[in-house]
Amino acid sequence: MNQDMTRNTDPVTADAGVRADAPAAEDRAQREAATRPLPDDALILLPVRNVVLFPGLVVPLTVSRDRSVAAAQEAARLQRPLGIILQSKPDAEAPGPDDLHWVGTTATVLRYLTAPDGAHHVICKGLQRFRVLQFLDGYPFTVARVQLINAPERLDPDIEGRANSLRERAVEILRLLPQVPEEMVTALQAVEGAAQLADFIAGLMDIAVEEKQALLEMFDLKARLDKLLDLLAHRIEVLKVSREIDARTRESIDDTNRRHLLREQMRTIQKELGEGDEGAAEIALLDRAIAEAKMPDDVEKHARKELKRLERMPEAAGEYSMVRTYLEWLIELPWAADPGAPIDIAAARRILDEDHYGLEKIKRRILEYLAVRKLNPAGRSPILCFVGPPGVGKTSLGQSIARATGRQFARVSLGGVHDEAEIRGHRRTYVGALPGNIIQNLRKAGTRHCVLMLDEVDKLGAGGFHGDPASALLEVLDPEQNSTFRDNYLAVPFDLSAVMFICTANVLDTIPGPLADRMEIIQLPGYTAQEKLEIARRYLVPRQLEATGLGTQQCRISDDALMAVIGDYTREAGVRNLEREIGNVFRNVAVRVAEGSVQQVAIGPGDLPAILGPRKFEAEVAMASGVTGVATGLAWTPVGGDILFVEAARMPGAGKLILTGQLGDVMKESAQAALSLVKARAGELGIEPGVLEKSDLHIHVPAGATPKDGPSAGVAIFVALASLLTGRPVRSDVAMTGEISLRGLVLPIGGVKEKVLAALRAGIRTVMLPARNRRDLEDIPADARDQLEFVWIERVDEAVAAALVPADEVAAA
Ligand SMILES: Nc1ncnc2c1ncn2[C@@H]1O[C@H](COP(=O)(O)OP(=O)(O)OP(=O)(O)O)[C@@H](O)[C@H]1O
Ligand SMILES: [Mg+2]
Repeated sequence: MNQDMTRNTDPVTADAGVRADAPAAEDRAQREAATRPLPDDALILLPVRNVVLFPGLVVPLTVSRDRSVAAAQEAARLQRPLGIILQSKPDAEAPGPDDLHWVGTTATVLRYLTAPDGAHHVICKGLQRFRVLQFLDGYPFTVARVQLINAPERLDPDIEGRANSLRERAVEILRLLPQVPEEMVTALQAVEGAAQLADFIAGLMDIAVEEKQALLEMFDLKARLDKLLDLLAHRIEVLKVSREIDARTRESIDDTNRRHLLREQMRTIQKELGEGDEGAAEIALLDRAIAEAKMPDDVEKHARKELKRLERMPEAAGEYSMVRTYLEWLIELPWAADPGAPIDIAAARRILDEDHYGLEKIKRRILEYLAVRKLNPAGRSPILCFVGPPGVGKTSLGQSIARATGRQFARVSLGGVHDEAEIRGHRRTYVGALPGNIIQNLRKAGTRHCVLMLDEVDKLGAGGFHGDPASALLEVLDPEQNSTFRDNYLAVPFDLSAVMFICTANVLDTIPGPLADRMEIIQLPGYTAQEKLEIARRYLVPRQLEATGLGTQQCRISDDALMAVIGDYTREAGVRNLEREIGNVFRNVAVRVAEGSVQQVAIGPGDLPAILGPRKFEAEVAMASGVTGVATGLAWTPVGGDILFVEAARMPGAGKLILTGQLGDVMKESAQAALSLVKARAGELGIEPGVLEKSDLHIHVPAGATPKDGPSAGVAIFVALASLLTGRPVRSDVAMTGEISLRGLVLPIGGVKEKVLAALRAGIRTVMLPARNRRDLEDIPADARDQLEFVWIERVDEAVAAALVPADEVAAA
């Protein structure tokens, strides 16, 4: 309403255009006016173009047309009121009866001013409404006979009530407007009488003159009050909205960015006006998507509640996009059940055979598992867990199972996951919260009936500050609980019971116990060279040929060459490096073929050094041959088995034992035990008396940078010491493993298959194993069994006899 005020206190140009000959016109007007007397009921009218004067209000008017100047001057001279009347045609220069509204307001001229620049100003105060009865001709200004309209002050409760609310609304508006002086409110409160109040407010309202004129012409007070109440109510709404828009835009944006601010404001206004209604369209889309998502009833109810919330939110609010993202997650999850075709066991067998060479026992176990699932889909099937060194085909077996069962395949890597939220998601209250990786991958898979591989369960981080990921995983895998799995972000249950979970791990020991209990462990220990050759021929070579774009005609690689790659360029339990080296060979050939220098290439073992460089692995056994004090042990590592050398040296001293090579405590103790055994058997072994007392002994296990631990090197340490102290070399093609007791017994060890395969890879011919490990022999592939000689030992003395070159041979040499 301050706009109303400023408009009304500004000098209003009642007449347009200042005339150059104004003084002459004044004289003439005065002369003419003097000639004709005014009837008593006549009123001198001052037509104005853009102002409506209400009774009780004061307005300044600028007067410039000469008829107007004459009117103002005559009224002042005669001390009579002026009739202020609005032109219905604002453009008319000399308005006649047809150019004027016939209702106006009488006014007293409070002041008549002639400014130094010659402009005339009158300050008028409105008195009373009048209606024109008849215009009178013959005056140098507009004159009319009029009827004055009295406002009868009835004490009508209807009117009083309306007047009260009018006053309240007006005060409310003043409070909503910025920078309204308190005096305005006081003035408003001071106005007495309903009619006066109505006119006071009408005069100050910021509405078009035509609307004001309509109010002026509304003689019925009650109707006028109603009209004003309406107008004010609307005005309050508008003010509130614009204030809200202000506040909202101020909140949601950084006010340094003006362009952005303006655009934002425009969008908010558009939304308020219901224009550009992308918002409504989006809500409708989401609504349809929810209906089609096949959610369970309570989830759908929950989704609809969120949608309602979204509907009420302004699009610019940060929360809007959060709720929308959440709904999109709910919509896109595979709620529907689509079990697909039943498993065809014969086809599954064919596919497993197609994808993987060998692994007979494992494939058989997988088929059993599938058969049980097929016959009893609701039953609790165990969770398969493939354990084995890298590159032995754990992940690819999982993919093959998916293919065999016609399911989608998805993979979750658990390596290094140490926050429960990575599995189960963050609550939505977190900034940037998302579902955990189980739910994320299910969305990716697009169906609950998928194979979900949980890779590297053995590398799951320990529970701690952020909750225990293993216990979250337990809930995922537990058939009792996983039909109502609750992701923190989703906060509604999701049924995981149809998911076929398969875990993989490199080692068994670090799989959290309760998890391992729920799984059926299937070990993949690694391949023999012969098996690798078959895998290479059937799978790796064709795949790499295809990858490099070579045809079988353009490049052939002989079995000997493949064997050389297996033996001299890789040392691994799996076939990953083998595949990489084969790829290297083919890329090299591809370059030559592409250059056009050759058409066809046949790769033999002799070509390898030129392509792959010098052999990466020597037969290390050769290093050890014929030396005393060096024994070949067998170690088990997460990447398969490996051979290791135990070196013993003697120097003058006082019987101290030095141990190096990053040995763990258990290994150190087992070295102590081996030394004690040697001392106890010095006589039987034929060690010269007194040697031990005068010597320090040093045991070193290369490679010195790799930490080693465990008791299974006991036999090798004992043999190395015995060799050193008797001067009898260890046979170079023998490797050994076994724990020792102080009584000289050889105790069983783990990882037999890996160790045996490692020995074979390293070119060993004879493997010494604890007699009590004999039952593990059946795990070892037949071709490896055929190539090796096994010596089963119960006591260390047998080890000495089998491993050391006989004393008489040494003496003879
Ligand atoms: N028996 C096999 N027959 C055919 N291909 C095989 C066989 N075993 C492994 N492969 C191939 O070797 C490659 C490596 O296998 P995969 O990625 O499954 O190893 P992984 O056991 O999952 O290793 P990691 O522990 O490092 O994840 C794959 O391309 C796979 O197809
Ligand atoms: Mg893998």
